[in-house]
Amino acid sequence: MPTASILGESDGDVRMAGRLLREGHLVALPTETVYGLAGNALIEDTVRRIFSVKGRPLIDPLIVHVHEWKQVEELCPDIPPLARQLADAFWPGPLTLILPKAPSVSDLLTAGNPTVAVRMPAHPLARRILQAADIPVAAPSANPFGYISPTCAAHVMDSLGERIEWIVDGGPCQKGIESTIVDVSGPGALRLLRPGPLSPEILSASLDGTPIDSRPPGETDKPVAPGLLTRHYSPHTPLLLVSHGELPPRAPEGRCAWLAISRAHAEASPSGYERYWFSETGALEDIAQSLFAMLRSLDAQGYARIYIERPPADGLGLALIDRLTRAAAR
Ligand code: TXA
Ligand code: MG
Repeated sequence: MPTASILGESDGDVRMAGRLLREGHLVALPTETVYGLAGNALIEDTVRRIFSVKGRPLIDPLIVHVHEWKQVEELCPDIPPLARQLADAFWPGPLTLILPKAPSVSDLLTAGNPTVAVRMPAHPLARRILQAADIPVAAPSANPFGYISPTCAAHVMDSLGERIEWIVDGGPCQKGIESTIVDVSGPGALRLLRPGPLSPEILSASLDGTPIDSRPPGETDKPVAPGLLTRHYSPHTPLLLVSHGELPPRAPEGRCAWLAISRAHAEASPSGYERYWFSETGALEDIAQSLFAMLRSLDAQGYARIYIERPPADGLGLALIDRLTRAAAR
């Protein structure tokens, strides 16, 4: 198959992307979190193709992207009040809500779950395309299953360019990590399924302090959420998390990289490694933005091992440590 064609931001390209989506084609598109591999959520064959292009197991459900509230009501006729409150506070934005699904929502899409994941992205180009398509759009991150999520069009081209026909280039993603996922479908406490750009503290504050259970899925009595696999976002190069000031257990063997959170930390890192840093100052937002691009670029350089400094655990750090821990899992 020839490599994918690139679409841009012009009105003509947006109309075309919208039409392609409506007709059942796959289109990779930018969002503020990561690039998504988008397709019409109402066409069963299209949804099936999303799974097959990614190599994603059918037990791992997809997120549906919408541009207006009316579409949410069609996917979920009985919206829990707390879900409405979260949507009012954070949509459009990097938040995915797990809602009880309407019977019409495909079981293939939800992997047989009685719930559906819904998100209204904020990226202006994504919004224009969703509006032009005017259908619910299923979109997982546009990476082969288990590999690092793409945060620019070139990442998508590198790993899926020969398997899809269309990629919309909207520049680098602003947030850089996938949306925060909250399960608001049950009668009990709200539950954080995936940490992301919006921290549990920020979400909880918007609900007048209603708590959000953010224990890792394995530590609760509920079954582990589908798709939240320990090994995920993984580079091919072995990766080790280290703390600032910590000496690795043994001297580097072969060429190794040391990736610090800031320039100052990189300069203070042990000798014998090729030094890199995520961000000049180590600001968590900047680390998130560059995280996946750094992992991809270091992964392509043939290092024997990559040592990565563990970011601080507060706020956005929770999501960063989650992604890094999964990336390091073997
Ligand atoms: O930021 C994002 O969320 C990006 C952009 C493209 O919107 N999308 C994304 O999709 O990260 P994906 O498919 O890579 O991750 C979706 C996660 C999976 O871990 C899946 O298991 C979970 O959402 N999920 C989807 N539907 C679910 C459901 N009904 N119940 C529990 N988890 C669900
Ligand atoms: Mg993904």
